[in-house]
Amino acid sequence: MTNVNRPNVKGFHDSKTGSIQYVVSCPRTKKAAIIDPVWDFDEKAGRTCTTNADELLGYIHDMSLDVVRILDTHPHADHFSAAPYLKMKLGAPTAIGEHVKKVQKLWKSIYNLGDDFATDGSQWDRLFKDGDTFTIGDLEARVMFSPGHTLASITYVIGDAAFVHDTLMMPDSGTSRADFPGGCATDLYKSIERILSMPADTRIFVGHDYGRGGRKPMWESTVREELAQNIHLRGGTTEADYVRIRETRDAELELPHLMLYALQVNIRGGRLPDPESNEVSYLKIPLNQFTGSAKICGPQG
Ligand SMILES: [Fe+2]
Repeated sequence: MTNVNRPNVKGFHDSKTGSIQYVVSCPRTKKAAIIDPVWDFDEKAGRTCTTNADELLGYIHDMSLDVVRILDTHPHADHFSAAPYLKMKLGAPTAIGEHVKKVQKLWKSIYNLGDDFATDGSQWDRLFKDGDTFTIGDLEARVMFSPGHTLASITYVIGDAAFVHDTLMMPDSGTSRADFPGGCATDLYKSIERILSMPADTRIFVGHDYGRGGRKPMWESTVREELAQNIHLRGGTTEADYVRIRETRDAELELPHLMLYALQVNIRGGRLPDPESNEVSYLKIPLNQFTGSAKICGPQG
């Protein structure tokens, strides 16, 4: 008999951004959800394309899956979301966490967007609250609010699988950064504690992997492995120690290549700004607002 608590999970690694996109499916009904799909962007040419999303569509077609949800864990800083493209192709509704409204307000101010930019989350079909539940065929899914990397991040727990995106990484790579606008290392520690309080066999699917030390990209671990081996957490790291480790590391990190491009697309739910009178869309870059890392500094910084 099929274990209804154990979804089939297929990860798709985008080598440019190190992002992992997932197709999660019910083994019996073939209903499925897509999590964190990438809409490719070549920043040198200013050109978008759908290579990654089309690969997901190919798998969905080959496996005869029926996609019932297109989910994002948070507004990403390293890639554009392909949610609207996949909705157009598949008809399934999109969703993200309800606190995306706070992220929209924050970045509306950074980009100096006008009143026509809505900060009510209306760009998605559904905004999830902590504890919300839904089904994918026979699979039961639950939403866990997991802030720290962003104000809005959520984890999707689907059967025995948790899609944690930018909280935990693979055990040899530690945890995700908490220094973007709205990020908070203390909140991230608390979110990770909550994720790691799930049963030890819970499968953890991470949002990024950069092939640490030249190994092949990987994206699946368990609560047990993360507790025992994660380089930022093993040995019972205290909150104070974690915050120190995280903030020290974050101070050394450069901004993601696409952050200032990606946020203005992703706060629109994965859409370009409206075309101008010549039918062309333009992105906007705030100048002299960030240091080399993710700190907002203003023009004097
Ligand atoms: Fe992220």
